[in-house]
This record gives sequence, C-alpha cells and structure tokens, in this order.
Amino acid sequence: MTNFNENQTVYSLRGKDKIKILFVCLGNICRSPAAEGVMKAIVDENNDSARFEIDSAGTGNYHIGDLPDHRMRIHAQRRGYNLTHRCRQVNPSDFEDFDLIVAMDESNRRNLQRIAPTLEDEKKIIMMADFADLATRYDHIPDPYYEGAEGFELVLDLLESACNNLYYALK
Ligand code: 4NP
Repeated sequence: MTNFNENQTVYSLRGKDKIKILFVCLGNICRSPAAEGVMKAIVDENNDSARFEIDSAGTGNYHIGDLPDHRMRIHAQRRGYNLTHRCRQVNPSDFEDFDLIVAMDESNRRNLQRIAPTLEDEKKIIMMADFADLATRYDHIPDPYYEGAEGFELVLDLLESACNNLYYALK
C-alpha cells in the first residue's frame, strides 16, 4: 500500500506533542509485542521517545501475564529487540487512553470494533499492513503462531517496514 500518508487518523496526529499508540493482535505474545519493540526502537533511534507512549495488547485472554512467545523473542533478539512486554487483554478504556489502535489483521479489527465504546473511537483503529512497503503481497500481518522460523522473520520484516512508515507519517 502506498497511501500511508493519506490516512486521516494518522495525518491528524502529525507533529502532536504526545502520541499514544497501542498495537493489537490476538494473543499479544507474537505480533503486537514485536510491533511495540520495533516502534520503541525507532522512536529511540530518532531521539523522539519522549513524544510517544507505546504499548500492546491482545483481543484474546489466553496468555495474560506471559512474556512474548520464546520463538518471537529469539527472532527479535537477533535483530536487536529485547521484548519484555507482559501480555494483557485489550479493554474499552484503551480507546480513551490511546490515540491510535493498530490492528494486525481483519479479525483483530472486527474484535476491536466490537469493543470500541463509540463510532468516533472506532476511527482510532488503523491497519498495520497499510503502512508496510512490502504489503503489495500482504494486506495483514500473518499470524506466525503455527508457522516455522520464516513466519516470524516475515512478521519482523513487515513490522520494521510498517513501523518506519508509520513513524515518518507521524513526524
Ligand atoms: P499473536 O499470535 O496474535 O501474534 O500473539 C498468537 C498467539 C497465541 C495464539 C494465537 C495467536 N493462541 O491461540 O494461543
């Protein structure tokens, strides 16, 4: 997708003093904690971490309190990301607390729409893959849970691209 600078929700936040981003997937042990780690590294590298609050959560409740999946931690560590997030479930008050709620796939988006308190809140939901250069083939960040090593590498490739483009769209 090439129109990531045209996303209205993101555009309206451009240059804002404080931007709060919540990354959301199903389990909150693979994709969204990795997105959180990648985005934190990007804002750090740009000496811009004071302007951002970055967190992640899952629509499911299977792994509450757990560290990210060990496979995701290993693949992320090889690229320099230390993932220490503890799994939590997304809740309606997140729509009050965050400016952007970033879904990894359509199922996440539908679940988020179901718990968004208002229609206005629903506008905070954006799709991670809309910001990835590599998304010519991927309109979502594929769930790596039942995949092999290449599934985790693909997630990290897509997230690095998408988080970079999201960051520059918010700059
Ligand atoms: P995630 O991956 O949504 O990227 O964290 C999953 C992790 C766990 C499960 C499904 C997906 N699960 O069914 O336990």
